[in-house]
Amino acid sequence: MTTKLPVLITGGGGYIGSHAVLALLDAGWPVVVLDDESNSTGVLVPRDVPYIKGSIADRPLVASLLRDHGIGAILHFAGSMLVAESVTDPLKYYRNNTAATLILLEEAVAAGIPHIVFSSTAAIYGAPDRLPIEEGDPKLPINPYGVSKWMTEQMLADAARVHDFNYAALRYFNVAGADPDLRAGQIGKTSTHIVKIATEAALGKRPHVDVFGTDYPTPDGSCVRDYIHVSDLAAAHVAALEKLIERPHENLLLNCGYGKGLSVTQVLDALDVVVQRKVPRVIGPRRPGDPPQLVASNRALVETLDWTPAHADIHQIISDALAWERKLADGILT
Ligand SMILES: NC(=O)c1ccc[n+]([C@@H]2O[C@H](COP(=O)([O-])OP(=O)(O)OC[C@H]3O[C@@H](n4cnc5c(N)ncnc54)[C@H](O)[C@@H]3O)[C@@H](O)[C@H]2O)c1
Repeated sequence: MTTKLPVLITGGGGYIGSHAVLALLDAGWPVVVLDDESNSTGVLVPRDVPYIKGSIADRPLVASLLRDHGIGAILHFAGSMLVAESVTDPLKYYRNNTAATLILLEEAVAAGIPHIVFSSTAAIYGAPDRLPIEEGDPKLPINPYGVSKWMTEQMLADAARVHDFNYAALRYFNVAGADPDLRAGQIGKTSTHIVKIATEAALGKRPHVDVFGTDYPTPDGSCVRDYIHVSDLAAAHVAALEKLIERPHENLLLNCGYGKGLSVTQVLDALDVVVQRKVPRVIGPRRPGDPPQLVASNRALVETLDWTPAHADIHQIISDALAWERKLADGILT
């Protein structure tokens, strides 16, 4: 068996990164977290994990931590991720997603890091007219967030051609839920995710859930998305890292979803089933920039990685998210 060198998790204090920390630890990987706390506090990172507060754009910091911790791979989650904000403040997205990743990548190449797993997004596909979306489908992002991530993927592809590393770009669809053992969940102050907002409304933290548009060309008129449980996504990262190590001359471009679309109405109906009452909804107009439907083909994910979803049920996703919201409401995390 090969030695498991420490894995650097950038953005490991955040929602998905903190679940990846747990999944890697569970699989026996030592990890080191780098997070600037712009959207987290460090509270989700287990105490015995080396935790560095700082930015991926801090070149000397990145160079020294790659060296000092003997890092053998990077899982790169750090970034900004609000689509609407990317429209009003595009340069923040090119700076914190694309330009900051360039610095991280240059230092990774200089340090000879052999494997990188990157958090990409379904937003690189824009508003596709063919479903389910295949990895080779056109990349026509419709907002600066999607462009910033697609530019980063292209940087990785070009660099991997000439430098000695391979990479995985995992293109997440709608990530939701929380660790079933409630060791982690969503704490970000700025979330616009429907499941997070719906569970907050169910607990009375919000008066209602807004539904943005019921006149889309979808079966019930609300937007359709492909929801993936955050713990299944975290497991896919471990599997992707291990595949990169097993096949050092291959890169992986993989959609991460269940290949199943659910409308906003279906998600809210599932919430009502879980909480056994009707959580108030307010129907409003469409939100600019929302594509009607995004559903992944996950054929490549399932065929390439040693990965089987363990939580692919919207009721479980909602129950786990709800249990996490209760934990937050009880003030257990400070
Ligand atoms: N949540 C989703 O549904 C979703 C979907 C597609 C892609 N993604 C991508 O997954 C990644 C993680 O998303 P998340 O939902 O966990 O978001 P998050 O905001 O909870 O986590 C991101 C973390 O990165 C940190 N960070 C931001 N900029 C940094 C920097 N320059 N240096 C160091 N740390 C920095 C933040 O403090 C935060 O802890 C992001 O890159 C996001 O674009 C998320």
